[in-house]
Amino acid sequence: MGDDRTIVAFCCRECAYAAADASANARTPLPPTVRLVLMPCTGRVSPLHLLSALAEGADGVMVAGCLLGQCHYREGNFNAVDRVAFVQRLLKSVGVEPDRCRMFTMSAGEPPKFVAAVHEMDRVISGMPPLPRSGDGESRAPRHGAGAASGAAPAEELLGAARGAA
Ligand code: FES
Repeated sequence: MGDDRTIVAFCCRECAYAAADASANARTPLPPTVRLVLMPCTGRVSPLHLLSALAEGADGVMVAGCLLGQCHYREGNFNAVDRVAFVQRLLKSVGVEPDRCRMFTMSAGEPPKFVAAVHEMDRVISGMPPLPRSGDGESRAPRHGAGAASGAAPAEELLGAARGAA
């Protein structure tokens, strides 16, 4: 059942994507749920990227970058930490599990850490119901929080919130 989920992983080129590349060269399999997106730095990942991915089909999003203090653009990953925390608060406000958005850090020389992060995200998302969307009808999970009263599916609410924040 977990295999029909999709996780979008925004990976910085310098460390996370390099670690992913090395793990692929070593033929280490990743969960089929994961789609990698190459970013120059996690500092370029905006809340709009994360929320749009969730609104348009992903069940989870992860940001993977350099170790804190080792961003090649100095403070990019600190900005990413703040943005992931912001998105987690938004998710919670509309009754969506905050863990659908997570941040991970690693060096380019730590492919196993990248693989472990992806598997951790896959494990967490596989344990959740699919993210409700418009047209899901009766399959919607019960919701709690401020967004529950609006009538829109959480994914669309999130995209609206992201556009308002942009
Ligand atoms: Fe990797 Fe900034 S270059 S997080």
